Amino acid sequence: MKLLIINGPNLGNIGRREPEIYGHEDFESYLESLKKEFPEHEIHYFQSHHEGEIVAEIHKAEEENYDGIILNAGAYSHSSYAIRDAVAAISLPVVMVHISNVYARENFRHENVIAAKCKGVITGFGLKSYELAVKSFAG
Ligand code: DQA
Repeated sequence: MKLLIINGPNLGNIGRREPEIYGHEDFESYLESLKKEFPEHEIHYFQSHHEGEIVAEIHKAEEENYDGIILNAGAYSHSSYAIRDAVAAISLPVVMVHISNVYARENFRHENVIAAKCKGVITGFGLKSYELAVKSFAG
């Protein structure tokens, strides 16, 4: 399957950002291990701090015939109606992931305005959340 991982704002420096919450491994090294674990899938990666760029990338994924998107919209998960509308507008399945367990954190993280338009949500398994998301596409 051709899968696209989209990471939103502040997710470019995982490994250095609040390691007590997000762990010590940087995303690029994790991505390499993920690709090795799933050689049968074509896994692509995009990261942006900008809402509009994420919206554009979601539409582009449909045009480029991806089979699915793994989306960690970061803090936009809790606020972005534009990303929610983009997810609703495409026919590809989108699996939302969070590295941390957002329900064990501040109240504002308990609201997710995008999740209802996603196929499912995986939250709280560290970077392994992405591996679980890839597996969710296989079944
Ligand atoms: C996050 C959780 C969000 O609340 C936060 O704003 C992030 C990362 C996660 O992966 O745990 O940037 O999406």
